[in-house]
Amino acid sequence: MTDKIYVFDTTLRDGEQTPKVSLNMKDKLSIARQLEKLNVDVIEAGFPAASNGDFEAVRAVAEQIHGPHIVALARALKNDIQSAWNAIKNAEKPRIHVFIATSDLHMKYKLKMEPEEVLKKTTDMVSYAKSLCPSIEFSPEDATRTRPEFLYRVLEAAIDAGADVVNIPDTVGYSTPSQYGAFIKAVKDNVPNIDKAVISVHCHDDLGMAVANSLAAVENGARQVECAVNGLGERAGNAALEEIVMAIKTRSDLFNCHTDIVTEELTRTSKLVSHVTGMQVQGNKAVVGTNAFAHESGIHQHGVLNCRETYEIMTPESVGLKKSSIVLGKHSGRHAFVKRLEELGYSNLNDEKINEIFEQFKDLADKKKDVSDEDIESLVKNEIFQVPEEFNLKYYQVSTGNTTVSTSTVRLEFEGKSVSEASCGDGPVDATFKAIEKAAGIKVKLNDYFIKSVGYGKDALGEATVKVEKDDKIFSAKGLSTDIVEASAKAFVNAMNKIHYENSAKRASVY
Ligand code: KIV
Ligand code: ZN
Repeated sequence: MTDKIYVFDTTLRDGEQTPKVSLNMKDKLSIARQLEKLNVDVIEAGFPAASNGDFEAVRAVAEQIHGPHIVALARALKNDIQSAWNAIKNAEKPRIHVFIATSDLHMKYKLKMEPEEVLKKTTDMVSYAKSLCPSIEFSPEDATRTRPEFLYRVLEAAIDAGADVVNIPDTVGYSTPSQYGAFIKAVKDNVPNIDKAVISVHCHDDLGMAVANSLAAVENGARQVECAVNGLGERAGNAALEEIVMAIKTRSDLFNCHTDIVTEELTRTSKLVSHVTGMQVQGNKAVVGTNAFAHESGIHQHGVLNCRETYEIMTPESVGLKKSSIVLGKHSGRHAFVKRLEELGYSNLNDEKINEIFEQFKDLADKKKDVSDEDIESLVKNEIFQVPEEFNLKYYQVSTGNTTVSTSTVRLEFEGKSVSEASCGDGPVDATFKAIEKAAGIKVKLNDYFIKSVGYGKDALGEATVKVEKDDKIFSAKGLSTDIVEASAKAFVNAMNKIHYENSAKRASVY
């Protein structure tokens, strides 16, 4: 049997640190449920000391997800560690992840601590964490720019104090593969008690080498890899989970190790994370991009038709890409629709949800001839992530043209009352957003807005994404329609509903 590589997913923690991404409890739970199906070994659910919202989200993940270790991040501070423990203590397999920076740069300018103080803090805080929780991971932040002799001493101290996993972060993505591989080997050779801990790696992608660095570390003895779905994370992101997993699987001849990931769930996981975070996956992204298995040139198509292996090193099925041969349209009944939902992996929807999605499917089938799997998946995700629709878009009307100022009139229904407002704007979408803001009585800053087509053809669904900021929090929401102004209006109203939902949840927790 080959060695197992533990997959530590940090989509919900480092991934949430992606600029303009913010996940609420519902978002984190739905991603965590999918990570459970993907069979990751570890889920880093968040940083409980950062906010009450994150504390509650980590607690919910710890209580509802079974199988993987559930990890909470903590600085090397008693309060952080206590808060991390409070959030995860009901998990089947809890783990606290304690970190402190060890590079001269970070110790001097960020921590304002002497190396010997950092060393002592490591021992004290890892021992404290171990007194609460059976499993501890320790990270010397900015490890790859730390003086090696000092790093070895810190790691030895952490293991003596009870760390079961020691992580070597390339925090700023500065390493190159050969250098990082050698660094991991040096840790193995120079930390006297290293055999008592698992070596983990955590690489950032500032120079585009996070996956290559992680794999070089595996070749040199690392047995846990920290990564995030779609490579999300701080700045340029973390190593992409799907790329690491498929590299280890496809090149098992080279790595001589394996993961326990259910690779057929990779595409679904990637799409879900993209939907929830509003972070699009580029078409040419390895493994999960829409072009990852598309062959454009005639020579390639010919080759693949004769023998797949000519241009495909992994099969689309192995990452969960399936093409259905039966096309659904307006004559399809509920039975065929439910069957397709099951084939797409949505077998746990209740009857009420199925009815709602089926209604939307019928509306869509009236507007376009064939309803694709992508269309159906978008309808399902839109429904699953819907918060209660307190604001309801009753109608909108726009007047626009290249020689006139765009104006929009909208009517929203809220708590049984109808409110109509009109506004001018820089184009029909801007005018509509402004009118909705007025009608809802909620002022926001629009941080991001984009529209993409789901599937192909002139009757393709438009999926609008808006990211708005309210009270320093980002709310990401989507809207679907074959008309792009309507899709945009729906997305904006959904964002208003999310803000309203969050505020009423906050009020409820105060009383
Ligand atoms: O990049 C980093 O160093 C981190 C640590 C908290 C592990 O995210
Ligand atoms: Zn990181």
